[in-house]
Formats: sequence, C-alpha cells, structure tokens
Amino acid sequence: MTYEFNERTMRRGTLSYKWDQGQTLFGDDEVLPLWVADMDFKCSPAIIQAVTERAAQGIYGYTIRSKDYLNAITGWFQRRHGWNVDESWLTDSPGVVPSLSLAVQSLTEPGDEIILQSPVYNPFYDVIQRNGRKLAESPLLLKNGRYEMDYEKLETLMSGGAKLLLLCSPQNPGGRVWTKEELVRLGDLCVKYDVKVIADEIHCDLVFPGHQHFPFASLSEQFAERTITCLAPSKTFNMPGLSTSFTVISNPRLKRRFDERIHALSIGSVNFFGPPATIAAYNESEPWLDALLTYVAANQEFAISYLSNHLPALVPVRSEGTYLLWLDCRALGLDSKQLKQLMYKEAKIAFNEGSIYGREGEGFLRINLACPRDLLVEALDRFTAAVNARNK
Ligand SMILES: Cc1ncc(COP(=O)(O)O)c(C=O)c1O
Repeated sequence: MTYEFNERTMRRGTLSYKWDQGQTLFGDDEVLPLWVADMDFKCSPAIIQAVTERAAQGIYGYTIRSKDYLNAITGWFQRRHGWNVDESWLTDSPGVVPSLSLAVQSLTEPGDEIILQSPVYNPFYDVIQRNGRKLAESPLLLKNGRYEMDYEKLETLMSGGAKLLLLCSPQNPGGRVWTKEELVRLGDLCVKYDVKVIADEIHCDLVFPGHQHFPFASLSEQFAERTITCLAPSKTFNMPGLSTSFTVISNPRLKRRFDERIHALSIGSVNFFGPPATIAAYNESEPWLDALLTYVAANQEFAISYLSNHLPALVPVRSEGTYLLWLDCRALGLDSKQLKQLMYKEAKIAFNEGSIYGREGEGFLRINLACPRDLLVEALDRFTAAVNARNK
C-alpha cells in the first residue's frame, strides 16, 4: 500500500493549534507554520477508520480501557523495541507533559534539584520550576555536529544532591537517538548517586535507519526500578488531539505514588477515541509508520542539501530521530528577537526559535520536517529570500 504524504491538506479553519494561531502568535495569518510538533499528514487509514466508526456511535460516554488496548501497547513495545512491558505497569494519562509534571511531584519534594540536559523540549523547564523544584542544568556538548552528554557535569550535579533526572530520549530538539552505551553510562551514574529518572520517550518510534532506540528502563533491573517512562502513540501516529498517553512503571512503590497523583486529580479515565485509535495505531499502522519515516528522512536530506546550496553559513544538526531539524543560525548574528522578526515578519514562516529550549539554543531554529515536500520547499524559499534581503 502507498500513502500520500505529498498531499497538502488544508488545516486552516480546523481549530488547529499549529495553523489557526498565525495572527495571535506571529501577527499574521499568512505565516507558514513549521513549528509545533504535529504533522501535516493524515493519520493511517486504519486510525481514520477506527475513529470514524467510533464517532458514528453517536454517544460519547465515559470510556474504559480494554484488554485489546493493553495488548496493543505491550505487543508494540515487544515487537518494535524488544521491551517486555507487563500490563500491570501501565497507567493512562491525558498527555506526556501532564505525566512529567505528576512524576516530578511524586518523586521529589519542593526545593529538590532536578537535572535536565539542555537544549531540551521547553516544558521540561516548566514541570521543574512551576512545581517549585530547582533546575540543575547539564548542557549537552555539541561535538562535530552531534550532541553528547556531559558526564562530568552530570556527576557533579548528582554528587551535589540532585534527586531526579529528566531524560529526553530521543532528544528534542537536537535529534539524538542515544546509544545503548550512552544510556548505560548515564544510568550507572543514576544508580551510583541514587537519582530517579523520568524518561520522556514520546519520540521513541521516530528513528531513522542506522539508529536504534533503547528504552532506558529496559536496559537493566536497577534502571527500571528507579524510572517512570512516559509514552504515547500521539507523536508517532499524529494523534495528539486525542489526549491519549500512558506511563510505564515497573516499581510498585513508585507506581503507587504516581497513581495517587492521577487519582487525586481524577484524570485517569481514557479519552473516548483513545483505545480504538491506539489499537489501530499499534496493531495496524506499522507499514504507515515505516513509509512515514522514509518520507521524513528524505525531507531531512532535502533540507540539508537545500541549506548547504542556498544558505551555506547555516549549519543543520543532522537528526537521528524525531521529525525535527535543529539549525544553527548563529552565523546570522541575530538575537532571538531579531530571529523572530526575520521569520514572522520578513519570511512569513514560523520555525521554533531556539532559545525557548535553553540558553544553548540561542541563535538556533527548529524546523518541523513532517510536512509535504512542497510546503517545506516553500518555507525554505521564503526563509532564504528573507535572509538574502537582509544581507543585501
Ligand atoms: C519530548 C516531548 N515530550 C512531550 C511532548 C508532548 O506530549 P503531550 O502532547 O502528550 O503532552 C512533546 C511534543 O512535542 C515532546 O517533544
């Protein structure tokens, strides 16, 4: 079966967070949005069918999770990642970010230090600081165009009393798919200093050929017992509007503490569309995902070669996974305000401005590659024209 990733679907006027906030966020409805991480591709035919049939039932009542739903999740992680997840380890949650926040609350006390590795997905800062915890930053090291962990800094922070590490694996926005060796070295430090781990692995299925995702908790018993893994089919299968995600916690003590937070807020029931969509995703949409990854990888190759031909001073950080391209624009010599002016006002495009991911992101932009090729071309053309007009 072939899938039409080249098809441009009109999303304006659909209450789209990405497409219908041009005026509000960027001051112009004509801005082309290649920012927030949702894809401009229709879901797999199996998911569309499952959701359509579900909608046709016409009564949208409270929903329970079924054995099929749990099997779909455990089957997927077994098949795709070689990870044996017991269904008793699963807790449903309306989103990965809410899970991150509740996990922070359940594993630490106000005032505790929590480590993140910047530049990183911006809500990581919020779930630490808005919960009254302290940020302990270990910036990633950009070496030969590839991010690496700074183990010395990590060890300093852990030996200095940090209680928890927020791991982004694969990493957004740097596009790293951490190797087994890197994760084991990190995990060994966490064991040595008794640091707990929240592993945000929402991008785990979005990995390009030549790379492999290793679920952190699957690497050893000791890692598993200190880890809350946050997952969802939403990023992989483009269904974030269905508010369907889950955590995996094999340590019963940690799970009780996390579940207590979920119950306190009464947010544990699943979305009406969640189970059928998840079953269709994990059981029937693997060929769609493989085709998607081929398409996005080709978009990345296209963008990298386009940039090297048209804007050679800008340096893309090649992604190993995710559908995001991190672009070093420091050669333009613009601060974050000027980069926004360049994007929104002059080029009429919206990539994400890099400083929201941490100080180290200053001068970078993040481009969402999960769109039809012609849209990517249009955005890059507009961006190039605006940069050239400035440099005249
Ligand atoms: C690393 C990471 N975690 C979480 C999310 C969002 O998760 P959710 O929409 O389930 O809260 C994203 C979305 O881009 C992400 O990149």
